[in-house]
Amino acid sequence: MENLYLIRSKSDDQNIIVGLKLLEYYSKNYKNIAIYCPIASKHDISIFQEWLNQFSINQNIENTYSFIDKDAMEEFNKDSNIFFNTILKTYEELKEKYEFVLTIGFSQFGILDTFGLNVKIAKNLNTPIVADVCSEYMSMTQKHLDKLLNGTNYVLIDENIDFEKISQLKSYDFMTPYRFKYEMIKKGIKNKKTVVLPEGNDERILKACDILLKTEVVDLIILGDEKEIKQNAEKLMLNIHSAKMMNPSTSDLCEEFASMLYEARKSKGMTLDQAKELVKDKTYFGTLLVHSGKADAMVSGASTTTAETIRPALQLIKTQEGVSSVSGLFFMGLEDKMLAFADCAVNPNPTAEQLASSAYVSAMTAKSFGLDPKVALLSYSSGDSGKGESVDLVKEALKIAKEKYPELNIDGPMQFDCAYDPKTAASKMPESKIAGQINVYVFPDLDAANIGYKAVQRTANALAIGPILQGLKKPVNDLSRGCLVDDIVDTVILSAVQAQ
Ligand code: ACO
Repeated sequence: MENLYLIRSKSDDQNIIVGLKLLEYYSKNYKNIAIYCPIASKHDISIFQEWLNQFSINQNIENTYSFIDKDAMEEFNKDSNIFFNTILKTYEELKEKYEFVLTIGFSQFGILDTFGLNVKIAKNLNTPIVADVCSEYMSMTQKHLDKLLNGTNYVLIDENIDFEKISQLKSYDFMTPYRFKYEMIKKGIKNKKTVVLPEGNDERILKACDILLKTEVVDLIILGDEKEIKQNAEKLMLNIHSAKMMNPSTSDLCEEFASMLYEARKSKGMTLDQAKELVKDKTYFGTLLVHSGKADAMVSGASTTTAETIRPALQLIKTQEGVSSVSGLFFMGLEDKMLAFADCAVNPNPTAEQLASSAYVSAMTAKSFGLDPKVALLSYSSGDSGKGESVDLVKEALKIAKEKYPELNIDGPMQFDCAYDPKTAASKMPESKIAGQINVYVFPDLDAANIGYKAVQRTANALAIGPILQGLKKPVNDLSRGCLVDDIVDTVILSAVQAQ
């Protein structure tokens, strides 16, 4: 254990005593120790300064906190993504530099549930909790934490601190949606890519560009009339100056792109005149920027259907070697884990071969975003319990997947509950090594997958990032026409990471 999160629920004085005792203990055990408080009051900061001096801790006082209490509430209300990303960034930078980080939880956060938010932050930081609670609240707190932490990896303390018990705590390994996004941004910044956004006429796109450029996570090309785009951005008080702008109707690239498109599609009956006309279409122009290497990825679809968005990519960019079919995956962000659902976007009635291919590319996508893929081929039947044509199709897909991709951790046919819940798995598929722990869910057809992801997104209030088109040689990703600015931001960052 190299980190600890002290949740404070008593008077400030008592909290200071406990914090000090922990610091005394850990500064003896670790040479290089840091203090961190996500939201600190001015009083906290003066105490931290005393602690830095007393324990000769080599840390700037500005790095001991992310927000001062009043600003925190405002930032949280403005954009919880930026709020959590700021906390994760400060904390992870400390973790890289110091052997041990003692996080001191905050004791007030306006009218919001302070205890709950402290636990949420500790889960995002994957830092085990020590909670200092009054004896009368012990059993209630215990029940609450058992539920929130899926187990007992925390310690409650009262007057006496059991350091032996605390030293047995292990860092959590939650992949929260905020951590997932933080990791994505970190990856994006490390190896910056250029993403083209063909729908410069859409306000949501411009708002997303403003956020993305502030974060410095990608370079952007926006398509459309430059004067109009700039006027709209000014009206909306957005800063998109560093984006490159191109107009498909007047661009110098049109001729080059027309012959590129004609060469690629002449065998399918396209004439040069048709190609000249088509390159003026923003989606074709954007796709050609990616195809020609002038951009690394494209995100479009805020105003076009999925078919209109992805058809040029299927025709021009084509599939990666060894991948027979493109499919679409959503990352579903639950409270403290990320799941992958496929194919929610492309193939209405997949063959067994396409299902197997979908399973493989989904596992690869999940892996490239930090998940250890365990794949289920979903069905209304688990193991040999049910019979039917679609069950046979899934069984055939499993056979193909196992033969073609022997390294793949895959099983099926499996019902969703059997795939997700260890207890159900133990009774329905006891022989399966991965049932009950699945994080990549391959649905049997587009109906099931598309309905499934939307049902989880809307009823469980889960974050849905995607669809990520997988299997193409270069990333082109589709937006829903009802997308929000945050969805665009997420999809652009994800596309940039996919392009690495
Ligand atoms: N993988 C790889 N290539 C493909 C695929 C695929 N899954 N599907 C089609 N292609 C290729 C074809 O081989 C063809 O290539 P070619 O012209 O070089 O020979 C090219 O794409 C065009 O093929 P068509 O069959 O003419 O394409 P079609 O017009 O049928 O469009 C599409 C394909 C767009 C994927 C279609 O299957 C479709 O509309 N799917 C459903 C999309 C949808 O509505 N999704 C739900 C909404 S998304 C959401 O809610 C998130």
